[in-house]
Amino acid sequence: MIRQAIIPLAGLGTRLLPLTSVFAKELLPMNGKPNIEYILDECINSGIKEIIFIISKKKLMIKKYFYSDSFYKKIIKKKKDLRTINEYKKILKYKKMIKFVYQNKPLGTADAVLKSKKYIKDKYFLMLLPDDLIIKKNCSKAMIKSHKFHKASVMASMKVNKKTVSRWGIYKFGKKLNKNDTIIKDVIEKPSVNSAPSNKAIIGRYILPKKIFKIIPKLKTGAGGEIHITDAIRELIFKNEKFIAHNFAGKYLDCGSMDGYIKSSIEISKL
Ligand code: G1P
Repeated sequence: MIRQAIIPLAGLGTRLLPLTSVFAKELLPMNGKPNIEYILDECINSGIKEIIFIISKKKLMIKKYFYSDSFYKKIIKKKKDLRTINEYKKILKYKKMIKFVYQNKPLGTADAVLKSKKYIKDKYFLMLLPDDLIIKKNCSKAMIKSHKFHKASVMASMKVNKKTVSRWGIYKFGKKLNKNDTIIKDVIEKPSVNSAPSNKAIIGRYILPKKIFKIIPKLKTGAGGEIHITDAIRELIFKNEKFIAHNFAGKYLDCGSMDGYIKSSIEISKL
């Protein structure tokens, strides 16, 4: 059973400057709703019961968003406005599920994952990267189904343009298990066009085994001075851990760059 999800939120969001000079990118509104709420709804609708936010001191705004109780109470007492009451109820529902841990130095996704170690209870957990929105179909739900069936780790996958492989984690595929699931034989973080094993990319949804916490401290710093989760996954694959690429049915939206953010907002407003 997958009951816990982790969300790395300590990233600086430099691709979204100047907005991110004063604002957390995960709170940027997409059609009137912060990006992170789409991610939270995906978790809740896939049966997740507890969500661990990995933030930093610079991103305390995210915690504040869920902890403005006295502000809401004051407004509600004064105005008794139904919309505010409902919004507050929704925030309270999210707040009950969220725990916060800190990653104050931006040392990469694997380092962020390690910070959540003390809270992870089960053999497997879900990780969602908030820059990657997947709309129309619940990707996490489909991945959890696949995990249950194959008893394996699962990552969301998408075919990308060959010219763009150096933007992604790219995997080498093995046996096809069914229409949407394939065994992963190897995975490389941001390879060059020439060294890429395919044009199949990992998108930001992962069902990871708890044993990944043993691998991460041994990893060397990779591209950009960061420790990548892809490198930890690679080690696990070499140790015969079963990893599956799940081709998701929904639509992928990149919210991490300015161009992507603008296009995603337009796309979401059409839903
Ligand atoms: C991260 C992962 C990468 C993955 C991508 C999906 O990269 O490291 O393997 O393909 O997310 O969006 P980032 O977007 O942090 O550069």
